[in-house]
Amino acid sequence: MRAHTPQAAQQVHIDLGVRSYPIVIGAGLLGDPASYGGLPSASTALIVSNTRVAPLYGPTLRRALEAHYQRVMLVVLPDGEVHKDWATLQLIFDALLAKACDRKTVLYALGGGVIGDMTGFAAACYMRGVPFVQIPTTLLAQVDSSVGGKTAINHPLGKNMVGAFYQPQRVICDLDVLQSLAPRELSAGLAEVIKYGPIADMAFFEWIEDNLDALLARAPDALAHAIRRSCEIKAAVVSQDERETGLRAILNFGHTFGHAIESGLGYGQWLHGEGVGCGMVMAARLSHRLGLVDGAFVERLRALVARAGLPVTGPRLSPTDSAGRYLELMRVDKKAEAGEIKFVVIDTPGSAVVRGAPDALVREVIDASCD
Ligand code: NAD
Ligand code: GLY
Repeated sequence: MRAHTPQAAQQVHIDLGVRSYPIVIGAGLLGDPASYGGLPSASTALIVSNTRVAPLYGPTLRRALEAHYQRVMLVVLPDGEVHKDWATLQLIFDALLAKACDRKTVLYALGGGVIGDMTGFAAACYMRGVPFVQIPTTLLAQVDSSVGGKTAINHPLGKNMVGAFYQPQRVICDLDVLQSLAPRELSAGLAEVIKYGPIADMAFFEWIEDNLDALLARAPDALAHAIRRSCEIKAAVVSQDERETGLRAILNFGHTFGHAIESGLGYGQWLHGEGVGCGMVMAARLSHRLGLVDGAFVERLRALVARAGLPVTGPRLSPTDSAGRYLELMRVDKKAEAGEIKFVVIDTPGSAVVRGAPDALVREVIDASCD
């Protein structure tokens, strides 16, 4: 792991009235006790992590938290999307109850989006709600999943189908931890970074095009900018529509197709970010077929997604009727209404809307986008 000179931390604010909180972004934050000052007072903290991340960063976090709590405990979950389920969630409740944790106990999610989503859901449920802090350790989690309060587990019939809106007290994004990520995971995170361009900010998209090599090389300044701008865009959307009654759905650009790929292949076969990367290309093609954007925009997005190391061709989900299987899976999407699938499409580069599309057109897009 490469250390580098600490830079001044930056903050992005999520404005949600009494549920407001900061996202702190910088180097060296994880092991600094000052990162955890000013949180709700408690005698006990429980770190929730997994078999991959706990050995890397658990001891550093534990030492920093010991400055603030009488008891700092750790529960280590199995690693992977396939474990984002009831059985693994139950392990968090087992630990909380076995260790007699009271309702002031603060949960610390130390890991990627899987750990963050499950810890948040556990925090929402334990004793009807205890405080929690997000310490995202993947790029994907730092730019998206740790922010905004969506928490969930998967169901075999649909992704993230069981969960709650529950905001963290703080999000702490330590740039240093990204140095130990596998290259495939870094690329998966870049999918969610790229997402913010077409839906909200084409100047940011252009910046990503210009700085992709620095991002892939994990240059701290480039990562810090990408994380900050992503969080600013997400914060602006979430602050207007915390519970996704409308606008927030644009953050799901690429996810309708991507979730179908993830659940259709079996959780963990394609990474979430890989599904989103390919799904954005499919959603851009659909936008083009609906007459909203030109072919040059689709090609520009496809090229950037490919350069980021992400798949741009979808898998077949059935040997007989692959497009039919995609449609069947997409009808379970949370945006679907009365069985009608809703897609996030780009109406003009930098702006997204949610709308339906004829099945026949969607079939054509899937057939044109898959192996
Ligand atoms: P992940 O949590 O599975 O992490 C990816 C892999 O990297 C895991 O093996 C993990 O243990 C490992 N890892 C984590 N940090 C590491 C580090 N610093 N060094 C080395 N290895 C590390 O996957 P993810 O991509 O972070 O998150 C995907 C999940 O996030 C999905 O379940 C998705 O549904 C969810 N998500 C939620 C939201 C939301 O708004 N709540 C948004 C986007 C995605
Ligand atoms: N990642 C989608 C959302 O937070 O709404």
